[in-house]
Amino acid sequence: MRTTLPGPGGLPFVGVLFDFLRDPLGWLTEAHSRYGDTFAYRVGPFEVVQLHHPADIEAVLVKEAGKAKKDVTTRDLARVIGDGLLTGEGDHWRKNRRLLAPLLTRPRISRYAGTFVTATRLHADRLRAREQAEVSSVFMELAFDIVTEALFGGAGSNKTGTGARSVGQQIAHDVETLMREYSRTIQSWPALLPEWVPIPGRRRFEAAVRRLHRVTDQLVLEATPRSESREDLVSRLVDARDEEGRPMSPGGVRDEALTMLLAGHETTALALTYAAWVLAHDPALQDRVAAELASTLGGADPTFADLERLPLTAAVFHETLRLYSPAWLIGREVVEPFALPSSGVVLPVGVQVFLPQWAVHRDPRWWPDPLRFRPERFLEPDAARPRFAYFPFGGGPRVCIGIHFAEAEGVLALATLLQRLRFAPAPGAGQRALEFAPSITLRPRAPVVLRISRR
Ligand code: HEM
Repeated sequence: MRTTLPGPGGLPFVGVLFDFLRDPLGWLTEAHSRYGDTFAYRVGPFEVVQLHHPADIEAVLVKEAGKAKKDVTTRDLARVIGDGLLTGEGDHWRKNRRLLAPLLTRPRISRYAGTFVTATRLHADRLRAREQAEVSSVFMELAFDIVTEALFGGAGSNKTGTGARSVGQQIAHDVETLMREYSRTIQSWPALLPEWVPIPGRRRFEAAVRRLHRVTDQLVLEATPRSESREDLVSRLVDARDEEGRPMSPGGVRDEALTMLLAGHETTALALTYAAWVLAHDPALQDRVAAELASTLGGADPTFADLERLPLTAAVFHETLRLYSPAWLIGREVVEPFALPSSGVVLPVGVQVFLPQWAVHRDPRWWPDPLRFRPERFLEPDAARPRFAYFPFGGGPRVCIGIHFAEAEGVLALATLLQRLRFAPAPGAGQRALEFAPSITLRPRAPVVLRISRR
């Protein structure tokens, strides 16, 4: 099944694993400049083909979508989130996608807009009392509160809960442990070791997974006798019926809830963190956004209807997703051979295909002066730019199902924050450029600290 494509040879057994893990982002970009739009290499036992041409990316995600499934690392995530949409395949995935999609359409998301704004206002008020803050963790909490509120209503929020730790805090703690330990395992040697080897962190990871499953099961159970009037996603899922009139199993609802909890909070939190960082370092742009908010909203809270009236705020969000795409790499595994449109090369069954947003979003062929943060790119889009030069949410049948949720949440949260706060670089924080420790998402290497003042 090996391809004859050019690419780095790497070491016996491990291939390029160590180079890749040392600096994944640098490696992706450097290999592209050396080997072109289509090249191959080995990572441990897997042959990987990396694609940079937008036409090929479109082929994998859209036109030939049926000939590829999720790659091995994404499938491995099922250990954490079970068989939900992100990791599922085949009929099971199709059926659940059909059940979930109507719950996440744009008109439906409008019902959550109030939650996005109220939760952000609460965090912004807390931030106003401080001189500087670790915005990366504040926005993680904010996005977490928003997604748990949307999923479980009051039941999962940090406001309820009876024990020493509320249900929301317990879930947040376990999710953090799980993301940290999972990232550590996929970023180091242990990724190549069998499951039974007792490596540090694996116990903590497994305990967090078990607790998280237990708590989510309980929340799903509580959702079961709810009335029609409830809007939270878990209640809606419990009530949903497939074409034969059958409900989803409680385990199925649990897996989807956990999937959305994980897929839906860290990504948005990172986008908000990087947008705030960019604005802190570009005061003129920050003032322009604040001026748009003041003239459009006149001090009132933003609503769902305002989304279309805030083009610059939205463009800042989109440009952040270009330059600092929280999903930095999409992976697939070929299950039926197909030819790549840019070169005619046929991808054989079994290869892992990597589609790196990080590098494609910074390719000067599609993005002139690519490292400059210029929201204008999204205000006057370049009609000649290929569609898949930008794919922060993926594309095709497996496109992010939370796209409307994330767009509305991101823009409304940014608007609510920037109406109240001014961000500036923190003195002595020494962060002149963002540095990353990419794992499942594009996490910052160190907490992002910014100075905060009232507007
Ligand atoms: C800025 C925020 C977000 C980004 C950048 C993002 C990115 C992505 C990407 C790139 C994929 C496709 C992965 C692939 O093709 O392999 C995806 C899938 C998914 N996302 Fe998002 N996402 C975001 C927010 C959300 C939110 C808010 C939710 C839920 C409320 C969510 C739920 C999901 C789910 C369930 C899938 C799997 C869909 C399927 O395969 O059917 N995401 N996301």
